[in-house]
Amino acid sequence: MKLTDFLNFSGKIAVVTGAAMGIGQAIAIRLAEAGAHVIVTDYNEPAAQETAASIYESGGNAEAQYMDVSNAETVKSVIERIGYEHKRIDILVNNAAIYPMQPFLSIDDELWRKTLEVNVMGVARCIRATVPQMVKAGSGTIINLASINSYHPQRNLVHYDTSKGGVIMMTKTLALELSASNIRVNAVAPGGIQTPGAMAAAQAAMSSIEDSGSRINKQAFMERIPIRRMGQPDDIARAVLFLASPMADYITGEVLIVDGGFLLS
Ligand SMILES: NC(=O)c1ccc[n+]([C@@H]2O[C@H](COP(=O)([O-])OP(=O)(O)OC[C@H]3O[C@@H](n4cnc5c(N)ncnc54)[C@H](O)[C@@H]3O)[C@@H](O)[C@H]2O)c1
Repeated sequence: MKLTDFLNFSGKIAVVTGAAMGIGQAIAIRLAEAGAHVIVTDYNEPAAQETAASIYESGGNAEAQYMDVSNAETVKSVIERIGYEHKRIDILVNNAAIYPMQPFLSIDDELWRKTLEVNVMGVARCIRATVPQMVKAGSGTIINLASINSYHPQRNLVHYDTSKGGVIMMTKTLALELSASNIRVNAVAPGGIQTPGAMAAAQAAMSSIEDSGSRINKQAFMERIPIRRMGQPDDIARAVLFLASPMADYITGEVLIVDGGFLLS
């Protein structure tokens, strides 16, 4: 296989969750650029439509689809419909997640449940609905968005950190279980990435969290990144593209940390 063919995704059907903005949007854009037909799913339907339209205007193949990953029935019916319409699903990127910052004692059962519903159950549901389509197609690749918080704790995010730790074990366990069906399962663990969600969360935390020990200090954070810049959504999209491509054919159950070296420091 020629090197250029490795990144030719023509004829591939890719589903990306939470793809209306941020990292998911960047992933959808790169997958489409590589030739895949991308289903841009999100619970923010108008924003998903805008993303799909802008991909289409740039010459890519994309369609928008409402899908709230915290709703089991919606996930099942949307993924089944995609499989029926396109006859296959080759790539699933589980990107949708929430990360509302709260001190531990302020996180009630409802917020715990909501976070785990989206960040853990959402991933499990999308995989459960998609695997039969991949089995039918004879192959498939799944990439889950973990986080450096899967390894490195952050104050006021115990619910999120717990969920992202779960994503890593889900990735590894399913890699083991699904390899018999020729399905690879990997994860990308981003560091601090400049996205609308991350910026809003940091802003909200700075104005609401009083504990000075937990203040988000952008300068200190930047100084801890050996590659002296914040990550951009496209840094993650390129890593996802690699794992989704045949370049990574012999890689499964792995977590690719993309953090500018943050965890080393
Ligand atoms: N930005 C970072 O610094 C960072 C760091 C580590 C990991 N991550 C992970 O990367 C992924 C993307 O993060 P981001 O910063 O781009 O997020 P973001 O908040 O900017 O965008 C998230 C997208 O997911 C959608 N979404 C949220 N809940 C949903 C649901 N229930 N169903 C469907 N769509 C839903 C939102 O509408 C939005 O379009 C997440 O899994 C996040 O945990 C991000």
